[in-house]
Parts: sequence; structure tokens; C-alpha cells
Amino acid sequence: MSESTGPRPALDLEAFPPSFAWGTATSAYQIEGAVAEDGRAPSIWDTFSRVPGAIDNGDHGDTACDHYHRWPEDIALMKELGTDAYRLSIAWPRVVPGGDGPVNKAGLDFYDRLVDGLLDAGITPSVTLYHWDLPQALQDRGGWTVRETAEHLAAYTTAVAERLGDRVTRWATLNEPLCSGWIGHLEGRMAPGLTDLTAAVRASYHLLLGHGLATQALRAAAPGARIGLVTNHSTVAPASDRPEDLAAAARMDGHTNRWWLDPVYGRGFPADMRELYGVELPERPGDAELIAAPLDWHGLNYYFPVTVADDPEGPVPYAREVRLPDVPRSGMDWQIDAGGLEALLLRLTEDYGVRELYVTENGSAFPDTVGPDGAVHDPERTGYLEQHLAACARAVRKGVPLAGYYAWSLLDNFEWAYGYDKRFGLVHVDYATQKRTVKTSGRRYADVIRAHREATAG
Ligand code: IFM
Repeated sequence: MSESTGPRPALDLEAFPPSFAWGTATSAYQIEGAVAEDGRAPSIWDTFSRVPGAIDNGDHGDTACDHYHRWPEDIALMKELGTDAYRLSIAWPRVVPGGDGPVNKAGLDFYDRLVDGLLDAGITPSVTLYHWDLPQALQDRGGWTVRETAEHLAAYTTAVAERLGDRVTRWATLNEPLCSGWIGHLEGRMAPGLTDLTAAVRASYHLLLGHGLATQALRAAAPGARIGLVTNHSTVAPASDRPEDLAAAARMDGHTNRWWLDPVYGRGFPADMRELYGVELPERPGDAELIAAPLDWHGLNYYFPVTVADDPEGPVPYAREVRLPDVPRSGMDWQIDAGGLEALLLRLTEDYGVRELYVTENGSAFPDTVGPDGAVHDPERTGYLEQHLAACARAVRKGVPLAGYYAWSLLDNFEWAYGYDKRFGLVHVDYATQKRTVKTSGRRYADVIRAHREATAG
């Protein structure tokens, strides 16, 4: 690479073990495009992105980064960054277009080629089975509000594992079930766009059940699989010391963190939140054990902390987010606080007993442009990256078993309801030409990776 930002001594790279995985992450609908090729059927995001007003600028994933055709170029970019791991997701509607029933060989062929390409390049694939793109055919039959969807996830998982399980060992069942459950069914800002508490609670239950069933399917179809769950979390602070705000923070913590972790780590769904939601869970004997099936690793996606105040008239969980003045923010208007990442890594380790952790996503959006020199200078994203890597190093020094870090994202991509305006990539994408340009932050990441390898080479 021509431009180097040079190694920065402030980063305690020796904290990370020599085997540390340095990666980038993406997801299928956000980058692939080719939505009607080789037998792929619509997902709930193809549908949702056609709802007037649902997505900024009326954007959709029809072409996205055209990764379906340009994946060799994208693997070359990963190599250029020096990464040795890549987190991708499989599009369920490519593999089982009807949601259940026949497997589409052409859909699996794409991932087969991609996995081989990664391995040839010396990059370890980490495969997520569900990153929000439910086949629309299943949504038409109730989506995540019905138990059958969890069972269909397991059958689709078997098909993928039987095809890729001889080469892929690092698997995740779900990405961020909180977003599917709460944002998709309660807040309505993501597909399928519902605003219904009962639907949301049922969906959250079936998502975690699906995780358990998919884990079981993976263990059966790919005996060497190392299986994890990827969840997103925020630290939650009260807006004041008032008891009402302290209670609001506890509720928001339950809604954002405990609801998604307690059942997976054998504690069941939190009693206070069950009472607050007041929705009967569709529990059956044996479900709790399935949901709490032992995992090999946990993936934490971290972006921002939240501060909340009591809001008895507001929506569930009756805790209103308070916008702190004078704090650094990303282009998403999210507060930047790397300390939250350190705190959550410690909590997963100390409170939940996780024995192998990855930061499976972390990154920031800023309105980047290609300069007259043809380069994309993004000092804010570079700073965000450095601060969060420093937080990871501190966590490791305190005993967190962190095995890798995946920057979100390799490429600028379709940022869901925000469309293409929000750019998270270490690599800029000009959507008109599909030209990729490594940003300064990408070069900094490459420097960090190289410096870590040199520091730990034995
Ligand atoms: O783009 C998303 C990704 O799909 C899931 N985690 C958060 C990212 C940034 O919003």
C-alpha cells in the first residue's frame, strides 16, 4: 500500500495473542445485489425496501456492492488489508428460496465458490446463517411470530452445513436477534416493519429457539463446527440518580442485554421483563435447554452506549433515550464511547462466563468523499477504530478471552433503513461505478495488523 499512517505506540498490540483473528464483516443483503439471480427469491428486505418511506432515498439492495459478481475483487481487498478472517452471512432466500422445501443448488454454489476463494487467499471464513433476510414466503406464513420458522431455520442450516461444513468451522447462527425482534416487530423501523408487542415478544422467543435448533443442526451436520451466537449490546446508564431513572436503566438493560443473554446462558428469560412485557411466551418443554445449548464462542457487536430516563408514557420499556450534549458522535448520531466495549467484554466474561469471545462487529459511519487526490481521508473513523482496539486490548489485559476482531465493515454498503448514505466501510464504494477505494482507516487497520504480527512473531 502506498499510504501508511505508521504504527502508533499507544496501541498495546502485544495484549492480543499471536493467533488473534483480524477480520472484516459484511452481510448478504447489504452487499451482494443480484437479488433475482440463480434462483434467489425475495426476502423480507426486498419487500420492506419497496414500502414508500421505509428506506432513506428509496434505496434497496437490488445491486448494492454487486459482491455477487465482484467477490474475487473483494477478497483481493481483504488481502490488501492483511486480514486473515472474514465474517459473511448466507442468504437463506438463495439457498432455500421458499423458506422451506427444495434446496437451490445454484445458491449454495455461490457460497461454495466464495468459501474456496477465501481459503485460497488464506482467509478464514466465519459464516452467519441468519442476518435478517428471512424468505418472504415464510413471512407470509407468520415469519418469526410462529414456531415453524425456527424449525425451517434448522432445516436450512443443515443444507448449508452439509455443503460447506467440510471447509467452514466458525459458524454463527443468528446476527443481532435484538434487531430482528425489537426493531423489526416492535419499533417497525426494520423488516418486517411491525409495531406489535405481542408479535415482537413471540418473534424474540422463536429467534432464540431457532438459534438453539440451528446449533443442534450444525452439531449433527458438521461435527467439527465451532458455533457461536452474535448479539448486539449497549451499556446503559441512568440519566440521573433519581430512583425512577435508575429503574428505567435496569429496564432498558433487561430489554437490550439480559433478554438476549440470560436464556442463552441458562438463566431463562428474565422474570422482570416477562412481567413488563406481559406477553405469554410460546414455551414448550425442552425449549429452555435447546436455547441454552452450550456454545463454543460468543460474538459481540458493539457500536454505542445509551443513557436513559424514566418515561412511563413512552413505549416499552418505558425508558426514553437521553441525548447527551457535548459528547463525540458518529455520522449515525450515535455516541462514541470505547469504554462501553471494554465493559461489555468484561460483562460477558465475568457475568456470563463466556470462554471465547470475538468482537464480531464494531465500526462507524461518516460521510466520506473521494478527494481530488483520489483518496478517502477519514480521520474520525480511524480514531474510532484505534479507540476501540485500545479498549479491546485493555479488556484482554483484564482477562477477557478475546480471540478476534471484525471491523464493520469491509465495504460501504446498504445500511438498512438508512440506505446508502451511511458509509461504514474501511473501503469506499462508488455505487455508480462500483469502484472500491481503500480509505485511510483501512490503511491504518492494515498497519495495526502488520504491527501485531511483527510484535508477536515468535
Ligand atoms: O449494518 C449493520 C449490520 O447489518 C448489523 N449491525 C450494525 C451494523 C451498523 O448499523
